[in-house]
Amino acid sequence: MNKYLVRKLNKKLNTTISVPGDKSITHRAIILGGLAEGETIINNYLDSDDCRRTINAFRQMGVKLEKINNKIYIESKGLNNLIAPENVIDAGNSGTTMRLLCGVIAGQNFYSEIIGDESLSKRPMRRVIDPLRKMGAEISAVNDMYPPIKIRGNTNLNPITYELPVPSAQVKSAIILASLQAVGTTVIKEPIKTRDHTELMLKHFGVEIINTYSTITINGKTRFKGKTVYVPGDFSSAAFFIVLGLILSDAKIKIENVGLNPTRTGLLDCLKKMGANITIEGTRLVNNEIVGNIIVESSKLNGIDITEPQDITNMIDEIPILCLAATQANGTTTIRNAKELRVKESDRIRTISTELNKMGAKIIELEDGFIIEGGTKLKGANVDSYNDHRIAMTLAISGLCAEGETVINNSNCVSISFPEFFTIIEDFSK
Ligand code: S3P
Repeated sequence: MNKYLVRKLNKKLNTTISVPGDKSITHRAIILGGLAEGETIINNYLDSDDCRRTINAFRQMGVKLEKINNKIYIESKGLNNLIAPENVIDAGNSGTTMRLLCGVIAGQNFYSEIIGDESLSKRPMRRVIDPLRKMGAEISAVNDMYPPIKIRGNTNLNPITYELPVPSAQVKSAIILASLQAVGTTVIKEPIKTRDHTELMLKHFGVEIINTYSTITINGKTRFKGKTVYVPGDFSSAAFFIVLGLILSDAKIKIENVGLNPTRTGLLDCLKKMGANITIEGTRLVNNEIVGNIIVESSKLNGIDITEPQDITNMIDEIPILCLAATQANGTTTIRNAKELRVKESDRIRTISTELNKMGAKIIELEDGFIIEGGTKLKGANVDSYNDHRIAMTLAISGLCAEGETVINNSNCVSISFPEFFTIIEDFSK
């Protein structure tokens, strides 16, 4: 079994780092490059297990993709010229690959099957199946819910008007990708706004798409040309070092070139309310995405109540690391309306509370969140990631702040989103 040992970081930390390219944006750049006509070049892409799944799927569908010097070169004949994959598509651990591909294949002239690993095979797919069926794709899944997904596309998809029953950017993006191939105009309504990388990147590729705060309108039978894309650093990866810098007793960490799309940075808003010393500098717009540097310094944090569904959605992937910050704040933190965490790469309400409690935290698990007692002293322990990359990294950051030694079992899963993670934390101790 793969294990990783972390010791308490007993020194002043004053450092500048950068984090790898954004996972969500890399997936979308590969997908839109695969559907565009001509050449797309993706700079600073995330070379991780999840993104490789999307690359391989497009190769199986006849698109030429090559990685040369930290860039991906894509050569495609466009969304009407994909070919039927000869074998099943394996999405591995990647929910984004599976759900977004359903939207792509829904409008194609072929049949395909998409499988996933043990974790992905337990994640809900009904949320993409329902709208894509309404549009006219034939889809089946185990109990109409779980992978493998078998899908027969339809080149005459109907446009739909659809309100998202769960706030999910993966579902929204699957519908958008299908709607590009439908006959007519599709309208998607989202009562809670989710990350809008697909919409912003489609605009970058020159596609006419109207997105107001809560409604997205897309015209079907759309063709578009390849583009050059720059992928900003992943805010969700930066989040681990944001919290580390705040809770260590003597630290200043600058993280350069991080994506600061407001649909993703709810953690910053929340930490600032808790009293965090965070500065943003050098903001600029790169292919419609805000990018900048984040500087954090050791701070005295106070507990907080987080219950607004929109706040939860704006930091859905950062809640495990926020739980760690809350264990070190003054007073209690309550997080509610976060039931979606139970259907991520692991049941994150269960896994993060169980494992942090092994380290001395006092977290009570709620059906839809947590009650976290602040001011607890963490001690090293033998903990497990449940093969969930964000749980593994949260536990490693906890280990840097805990007395003694922490062993993280099943630590290799960090390669899902952040292959260089352990190298960066090892540099801190040098
Ligand atoms: C993602 C959307 C979110 C997020 C996931 C990536 C995306 O999932 O948790 O890590 O790239 O669209 P949901 O759409 O299921 O909320």
